[in-house]
Amino acid sequence: MENKQINFFKSKDFNNVLKPFKKGTVVNIENLEVRQRKEELNVGLYGWYAICPSKELKNNQIHYFSLFNEPLLIYRDNNNNIRCIKNICPHRGASFYGGSIKNGELICPYHGARFSSEGSCQNLDRITCSHIIDNNYDNYAKRIHLSQYKAIEIDEYIFIYFSDKSEANLNDLIESSSISNYELINNGFSVEESASEEVLVDFKCDWSRIIENHLDILHIFWVHGDTIPDKDVNKNVLVSFNQKINITTKYIESIYYYKNNPSKEFIRIKYIPPGRILIYKGDPELSRYVQVLDHIPLGENKARVIVRHYRKFLKNKLLNNLILFKEIQKKIFYKIFDEDYMILKTQTYNHKLGLIKKDEIKLLGEDRIINYFWSWYKKSEEKDNPWKFLNNNKELDVYDEIIFKYPPEIKKLEIINNINIIRKTFIRYAAPLIFLLIII
Ligand code: FES
Ligand SMILES: [Fe+2]
Repeated sequence: MENKQINFFKSKDFNNVLKPFKKGTVVNIENLEVRQRKEELNVGLYGWYAICPSKELKNNQIHYFSLFNEPLLIYRDNNNNIRCIKNICPHRGASFYGGSIKNGELICPYHGARFSSEGSCQNLDRITCSHIIDNNYDNYAKRIHLSQYKAIEIDEYIFIYFSDKSEANLNDLIESSSISNYELINNGFSVEESASEEVLVDFKCDWSRIIENHLDILHIFWVHGDTIPDKDVNKNVLVSFNQKINITTKYIESIYYYKNNPSKEFIRIKYIPPGRILIYKGDPELSRYVQVLDHIPLGENKARVIVRHYRKFLKNKLLNNLILFKEIQKKIFYKIFDEDYMILKTQTYNHKLGLIKKDEIKLLGEDRIINYFWSWYKKSEEKDNPWKFLNNNKELDVYDEIIFKYPPEIKKLEIINNINIIRKTFIRYAAPLIFLLIII
């Protein structure tokens, strides 16, 4: 230890630390420590998660999902506020699945208890005999109350603040990180003028593995080389990069420059924990394209990804419709996810079954952002312990059908999109042509 210290004071690093201090100034050791201390992410696994795009949540509809295995639901109340409720009726523990929303109130399918937007039961007499509650109304009303998490709508996404536990009173939930970290405008992007496409896909694999995959720049050349329409992303060309990494309390950003042309940027990846990744090029204000990837830990080996990209080119609606740009973009997304899924499934399987020991995995120097991600993840998991609800009885996956909305085997979504492409191509091109031929 002592040797290490002596070496440090003799080293180049020590000179670098001293450099910014002018000659003749007194350098005190506290300053040195401040300069050496690196910034660290201060967000853990509890925090804001983008759960679904706003347009997925229609009025009077319930959107079911889960976070870290905990069954939840969201809906819009009469004032268009989003409510995120623990999907367990406080009366006798039924799921709200099969229930409904009427006049902004959530109705349980078992005995018909109605809950106001604030979460209090509006018809206690319906679920217990009135002679019991007559003298004790307040006491019962307190007990039969929904448990909630905070929810907010921003940039046309619905965000949930997931924390240690839901509460009857939202004021009792304290946020440890600000929603503003996720707002695109606060990350330098103005997207109002952009066109956008998005897809949602569920994976039967580990949530953290998907994040690792999306932070991994090198696999895209090999796995997606034939799919991504960029001449630089190619299986047969070996491109090498210099990586610059910025770590702050709110995000980690990795910028890749071409090794043979160090001033030319290839791409930037910004990880805003726990679940968001932004991929773009250059200064965000000038960026013509940004891809927003949100990762939702539905449960053990169940994860959802929402990918939306905003682009400032090819925005003309008519042209978009004519060349089926949206559908073709979606086709590319599905193909990319399918290519990743092939790897992610087996990788998760190998890890979960313990077929691979931790020290058999080699993270190399170029994986600095991945390295950082894993040390953050491990620390956050220990600190927050979010996997409280582990389902050890695999027979009891009663929520799977409800929760896997965007089929984990992807193919189904891909096929639906392909049929859509054929249908639209026929209506736009073949049908008018046939019609013309008949007339002639
Ligand atoms: S369990 Fe919901 S009303 Fe009884
Ligand atoms: Fe990938």
